[in-house]
Amino acid sequence: MRNKMQISLKSPSEIEKMRVAGRLAAEVLEFIEPYVVAGVTTGELDDRMNDYIVNVEQAISADLGYEGYPKATCISVNEEVCHGIPGPKILRNGDIVNIDITVIKDKYYGDTSKMYVVGGKTSLRNEQLIRCAQEGMYEAIKTVRAGSNLADIGAAIQKVADRYHFSIVRDYCGHGIGSGFHEDPQVLHYKNNFDLLLEPGMCFTIEPMINAGTYKCKVNRKNGWVVTTADHQPSAQWEHTLLVTADGVEVLTLRKDEDFPRIIHH
Ligand code: MF3
Ligand code: CO
Ligand code: CO
Repeated sequence: MRNKMQISLKSPSEIEKMRVAGRLAAEVLEFIEPYVVAGVTTGELDDRMNDYIVNVEQAISADLGYEGYPKATCISVNEEVCHGIPGPKILRNGDIVNIDITVIKDKYYGDTSKMYVVGGKTSLRNEQLIRCAQEGMYEAIKTVRAGSNLADIGAAIQKVADRYHFSIVRDYCGHGIGSGFHEDPQVLHYKNNFDLLLEPGMCFTIEPMINAGTYKCKVNRKNGWVVTTADHQPSAQWEHTLLVTADGVEVLTLRKDEDFPRIIHH
């Protein structure tokens, strides 16, 4: 299993394309922020983002048509864990919303997601959930460098989730990314023994999904996509696409609103 893994190391020209794709994905999340307000439907947000991707960025959505997925983005609200399908759902104040964007530009993929709070205010528990998922992701990113172990990522997120007494989704993981959407390796977000030495030029995502209650999830049986928590308690997720460098990591999908370095040198 492990020796059959195909982990691509990106060349300098591929890295340049990953930087462009990552930046474009991040800019979609910046662009949509002012529109994530009470009364809007998730379908309207999806339409706006697809227009932006196609007409402004001259890129395409990787989601649209991926294994039959019907929309350009994933918008997951409250107890939805991931793969929320945009549609007639109306956002209300206090909803917590994950928007997950993957764009393809010049054949390379950029994949990122962030949480939005509709109206800016939600319950303390929701705020803690959102913070836990983001802190977990940031702590995990800080472990990444050439020579570090892939398993350090899950360990770092586990520490944060345990401190908050929240649970980590096990059914979905991060992934290698490049000229393919989901490449090797799988990136587990919980404590694990999946030892793999990181090398410069690897690109992968870290995208922890944190649940307020049980880690268990279920997939909507009618559409086959939308994942919700088994106990209907809320869930939060953040995602970045990363490049492993000789002495650290580069966050390819960093946004202007983040208080986190784009490049870490250890
Ligand atoms: N962007 C998601 C990820 O992080 C995948 C979405 S696939 C879709 O891997 F088909 F649901 F859009
Ligand atoms: Co991803
Ligand atoms: Co994603």
